Amino acid sequence: MTSDWRIERLVELTDEHIQGLADVLIDCVEGGASVSFMSPIVRDRAIEFWRRVALGVASEERALLVARDEQGICGTVQLMLDLPENQPHRVDLAKMLVHRRARKRGLGTALMRAAESMARDCGKTLLVLDAVTNGDAARLYERLGWVRVGDVPNFALMPDGAPCSTTYYYRNLNRPVSTEKGKTSRSTMENTVALHVREATETDLPTIVDIYNQSIPAGWSTADTKPIAVADRVEWFRKFDPKKRPIWVAEAERQIVAVSYLSSFYGGRPAYDATAEASIYVATAWHRRGIGRRLKQWVIEQCPRLGVTTLLSMHFDHNEGTRRINESLGFKRLGHLTEIATVQGQKRGLVIWGLRIPALDKQS
Ligand SMILES: CC(C)(COP(=O)(O)OP(=O)(O)OC[C@H]1O[C@@H](n2cnc3c(N)ncnc32)[C@H](O)[C@@H]1OP(=O)(O)O)[C@@H](O)C(=O)NCCC(=O)NCCS
Repeated sequence: MTSDWRIERLVELTDEHIQGLADVLIDCVEGGASVSFMSPIVRDRAIEFWRRVALGVASEERALLVARDEQGICGTVQLMLDLPENQPHRVDLAKMLVHRRARKRGLGTALMRAAESMARDCGKTLLVLDAVTNGDAARLYERLGWVRVGDVPNFALMPDGAPCSTTYYYRNLNRPVSTEKGKTSRSTMENTVALHVREATETDLPTIVDIYNQSIPAGWSTADTKPIAVADRVEWFRKFDPKKRPIWVAEAERQIVAVSYLSSFYGGRPAYDATAEASIYVATAWHRRGIGRRLKQWVIEQCPRLGVTTLLSMHFDHNEGTRRINESLGFKRLGHLTEIATVQGQKRGLVIWGLRIPALDKQS
């Protein structure tokens, strides 16, 4: 996938810029984002806001980035450079906005990268921001290695008037992300890695088992509590049936990075022939690159030819990643078995999701 936007720094705002930025702000507020404005936001107020920003850009109190797609401005972010003289190395990052038409394609990530690079160009090394606690933006910042400082409950209102907590973050540009968060961040290009999915062969089994075992220590994706051995999985592997209940591996950069398989529901009783459970495991080093979501989407697309019309997905109730993937792919939450497992000494519930998939029309 290639990015279809261009990011540029504006040093002067024209009326066309102000109109385009107002469109993005209005879209974000209408979409429920807590970004200083209440809903409904009238256009004049949005324009007035960007005119004030234009003055700040002209006086170099703010630095502004915009992203454009074929329809015009689709994203923006600002650095507030006008801070007290005892903080010459610091900036506040603000008004990070992506129009809903351009979301979930890596633009937010690209804007943050560009803002960090612009901060460096301005001679700044410490960036601070705040975001609605646990919201879409907070997740993005954490993924990019921003350090969570803490929450301020009841900080602001959502556009509909509901109170919300904010979380403060900072990013020290003099320290690599990996040492701040203990994990490596990914660039937008890396996020769109080419995936090749194929049926697994028995020679893949050691890798499949290894990927499965990698998920055990985190304790949120498998009910196993100790690593399993390859020998324990040979019989299990041989029961997969490419025509009805396949097992696949996904390859990227010539290595297996994820495994997925369909299992029969309720011991495979015939009444449940058209129902299968999807399982997906992504190698730890390849997390946070959209692979789980893309693989699950691919599995859904295979279901009609496999005769599966109900696809189930089950996960522990603290497995936030799978919850988000299922929601975004249209699964409906069907049930929640509370406190049904003990994982690493903690009682965990199991959430059951289902997706109805139209049967293949045999005539066509
Ligand atoms: C927060 C915000 C800026 C993120 O913008 P975005 O362009 O959607 O950001 P990204 O695409 O980089 O990342 C968003 C998600 O898309 C996923 N993604 C990125 N590229 C992807 C791709 N090619 N395929 C599939 N998913 C992808 C990311 O993994 C991330 O997933 P997550 O939500 O499950 O964590 C946007 O939601 C927004 O404008 N919100 C309203 C305004 C707001 O709240 N601003 C923050 C003020 S502090």
